[in-house]
Amino acid sequence: MKPTIFSTFICLALCTGLIPAANVDDVRAVKKGHGILINPPGFPPFPRPSTTVPAGATATGAIPTSLPLDNIQSDILIGMRKKKELFFFFGIENAADFKTKLKSEILPRVTSTKKLLDDDKLTIALNIAFSQAGLNKLDISEPDLRDTEFKNGQFSDSANLGDGADAKTWLSPFKGTSIHGVILLASDTIENIDTTLKSLKSALGSSITEIHSLQGAARPEHEEGHEHFGFLDGISNPFVAGFDDQSKALPGQAQVPAGEILLRETGPGWAKDGSFLVFRQLQQLVPEFNKFLADHPVGPESLTRDERSQLLGARMVGRWKSGAPVFLTPNRDDPELARDSSRNNDFTYMLAGDDDSKTGSQKRCPFSAHIRKTRPRDDLTTSQHHIIRGGTPYGPEVSGIEASSNITKDERGLAFVCYQSNIADGFKFIQKFWANNENFVRGNTGFDPIIGANLGSPRDVFGLDPDDLTRKFTMMDFVVSKGGEYFFSPSLSAIRDKLSV
Ligand code: HEM
Ligand SMILES: *[C@@H]1O[C@H](CO)[C@@H](O)[C@H](O)[C@H]1NC(C)=O
Repeated sequence: MKPTIFSTFICLALCTGLIPAANVDDVRAVKKGHGILINPPGFPPFPRPSTTVPAGATATGAIPTSLPLDNIQSDILIGMRKKKELFFFFGIENAADFKTKLKSEILPRVTSTKKLLDDDKLTIALNIAFSQAGLNKLDISEPDLRDTEFKNGQFSDSANLGDGADAKTWLSPFKGTSIHGVILLASDTIENIDTTLKSLKSALGSSITEIHSLQGAARPEHEEGHEHFGFLDGISNPFVAGFDDQSKALPGQAQVPAGEILLRETGPGWAKDGSFLVFRQLQQLVPEFNKFLADHPVGPESLTRDERSQLLGARMVGRWKSGAPVFLTPNRDDPELARDSSRNNDFTYMLAGDDDSKTGSQKRCPFSAHIRKTRPRDDLTTSQHHIIRGGTPYGPEVSGIEASSNITKDERGLAFVCYQSNIADGFKFIQKFWANNENFVRGNTGFDPIIGANLGSPRDVFGLDPDDLTRKFTMMDFVVSKGGEYFFSPSLSAIRDKLSV
């Protein structure tokens, strides 16, 4: 551990007997396991609440104001680490009945961030969030949450997101505003989830109806933590001020004020410490993606054909499947770098002495690469539009028949979830003005090859061939939007005092 203001404080505190020695280990420890959460190599260490450090520590200036973690739902600040996660979308049939049951049946099971972090014997975590249609149904539409996208719902935004006005790839439950809320259930086993869901359903009775559900799960064994294309996902999420001690921020991690993720001062009073949850059911056409890589190898002839195909995939994402950033290791994977969370996010796209078009920089990592499009780091002079991603893969592994035919049979993809305090500045900005904008990060960048959406038409992408950065690749959508909704994930006290009776 590098000597920081924080470790100096620990030392001082120890010497003066401020905290017992056992706590120091506690503060430093990287937790090995947690019933509900995965912890694959390369992921950031489990966060610890800053409240593990005694009050009074602020005197050193090292400890930021801590957030009320016992009042913030558990999914918001944790990131993409659930073993199993069910998304249960419901409509409210009887508002009065639902409001009573929200207090008596649901609230006692809602998991706070503090609970999730402190109780590693927890077997199930429950979160709940509401759409605008749901808040209307509950008669809580005024004062509104001051977010136009939330207010109108995601279906009316589908064309803005590149999905096409007719949203023809969308599942019918997401078309319209019939979804009033979503319950997120996370656990280590599907059985736990099923049991909990069953008892919830019987407790809620006819106050709600099920509209749609999606079972997500971390992929098996060595693929744990990897999305279905095969890339480690969940490495880079912003460090939220006040969530943990400043010394825990990892090199290269974006540091954002809590107000960028949580409603702190911006919404009506009751909404404080809630967050907007954007949900997207994003199908991934994995055999088709793999065929595209196989058909378009790039890079040095000294590599094997397969290595050159893997290089194309790595350049599309900006990271190798292991998680190692191509900017740091442009021609071959570096699994050791990938495993080290203090190094695997520690880079900017700047190259000293590079020309204006950043040719040298692009040779290492295309402007179009998914991680460069969605977080351009020093390509922009201001750092904003941050989200915390908390999704989970869904659907089966690719079967032998699918792999050999190059055609998807069973649906699989990413149950994409992200949190932000303003949808237009967060998810929507990134999707619309960055991923789908052919002239971002610079002119002639093309679409984000992973999530860029062109109203269902093929997408042009540049920069993928390191030996010819102007070469154009035209590709189908490998990620297909099946729809989604905009939700608000309220604080526990808002559920108790405002939403329920
Ligand atoms: C099926 C769809 C998607 C796949 C397969 C995917 C995959 C990935 C992968 C492999 C990474 C790199 C690992 C990491 O930094 O955690 C990543 C990072 C990221 N993705 Fe996605 N993603 C998808 C959808 C989205 C969407 C819809 C958005 C937002 C509109 C998004 C925003 C981001 C951001 C902000 C990062 C972090 C970039 C950084 O900090 O360097 N992703 N994604
Ligand atoms: C699948 O794609 C690969 C790579 O293009 C090709 O060699 C193979 O023949 C394809 N298989 C089928 C059944 O089309």
